[in-house]
Amino acid sequence: MNIAKRGRLIVFLGTVLAAANVYAGPAVKVEEGKYLDKDGNPTYNKKEDGTWDWYTFSGFRRYHSECHVCHGPEAAGSTYAPALADSLKTMTYDQFVETVVNGRTVHTAEKESVMPALGTNRNVMCYLDDIYVYIKARADGAIPRGERPEKHETKLDSIRTAENQCMGF
Ligand code: HEC
Repeated sequence: MNIAKRGRLIVFLGTVLAAANVYAGPAVKVEEGKYLDKDGNPTYNKKEDGTWDWYTFSGFRRYHSECHVCHGPEAAGSTYAPALADSLKTMTYDQFVETVVNGRTVHTAEKESVMPALGTNRNVMCYLDDIYVYIKARADGAIPRGERPEKHETKLDSIRTAENQCMGF
């Protein structure tokens, strides 16, 4: 295949993938404003008119209050901690939850790398699915760098109630 043809093929495939991610998304059903994939794990959803689900918007805010100090803005990483937008290209939902709850410490000859255990931090645990779906949308390229999921579905009363119960209000 010559270069020009190959270039067009890559552009074509890129368009198909982008459309699948942004518009259809991997969501197969929605329960009380939370979108779920075929395995029943939470996922993001963006409607054709650009409206994001509540959880992705909420996760965007929670990520930037609880994680970005170490993992960098937009999950892009820092010199201190890995880019979660890359980690979630391969990490499963269960592995993500396990790592955040229990933390992880890695010792090398040069340094000690510590992901704190956040399992008792309600500001994290009560919003863990929110944070996950936001980072997953970043990992899949559904939210490109520099974009925010500003336009979003309203927060359902049932979400507010569950949140208050979790936070102990
Ligand atoms: C005090 C700094 C700090 C904070 C705050 C922090 N992390 Fe981390 N995190 C780290 C470091 C450092 C690592 C790398 C640990 C290692 O070397 O394996 C890490 C690793 C991870 C990993 C594993 C990534 C991989 O590729 O294996 C996940 C997932 C993760 N963090 C999620 C989160 C989430 C979600 C939040 C916010 C709720 C958060 N972290 C807050 C420092 C932090």
